[in-house]
Amino acid sequence: MANVHQLSHPLAAHHLTVLRDVTTPASTFRAQVQRLSMLLAVYATEDLALKPKRVNTPLVVHDGMALAVRVAIVPILRAGLAMVEPVLQLLPEAEVRHLGMYRDEATSLPVEYYRKLPDGDPVDVALILDPMLATGGSIRMAVDAMKRWGVKDIRVLSLIAAPEGIELLYAEAPEVRLFVASVDERLDANKFIVPGLGDAGDRIFNTAPHT
Ligand code: PRP
Repeated sequence: MANVHQLSHPLAAHHLTVLRDVTTPASTFRAQVQRLSMLLAVYATEDLALKPKRVNTPLVVHDGMALAVRVAIVPILRAGLAMVEPVLQLLPEAEVRHLGMYRDEATSLPVEYYRKLPDGDPVDVALILDPMLATGGSIRMAVDAMKRWGVKDIRVLSLIAAPEGIELLYAEAPEVRLFVASVDERLDANKFIVPGLGDAGDRIFNTAPHT
């Protein structure tokens, strides 16, 4: 699909494999999410518009550049929270707009529990952050929230995505650009991504049931 952009960087393959490993502890898992998020953020911002900016260096006047767009970073709670800091490192002036959703275990449909967006005055570019795009229901809901806010340039950063979820997203929002480290094989009977990495939220926040 034209709007799906998959990282081909060797560091992405390396760090994603560590992330998938079931023996990776939460502390390392979080660090890997951050590394991959930074790679994704570089990729997803390659074409951001610039405007001229004149500065004084210690030696001369220099005609440089500055970002010409207002960007929002939009994490989907919980798991998207782990992606915020590395993206903010690259876009320190971005605003952060949180969306809270969880996937109902019985229906696999997203349930929204937090949304606080201003009335009007939309940003130029929204970067939606969620490590996993499984059925695509959560991302679709987030994209819908951005559209209602009035955002024209919507980009999604996910570490892994299932083909089924990508299809759902593009059936409704073909203009959205998706940046991923991997398009995985499929969803299983429980709508979990295969090969996947388990439940990102649980692994990030160390809340998986302990055996
Ligand atoms: C996971 C994940 C996505 C969603 C993906 O969240 O972080 O938000 O499921 O599934 P979908 O594409 O089928 O909608 P989860 O419901 O586990 O909530 P959490 O982040 O609070 O753990």
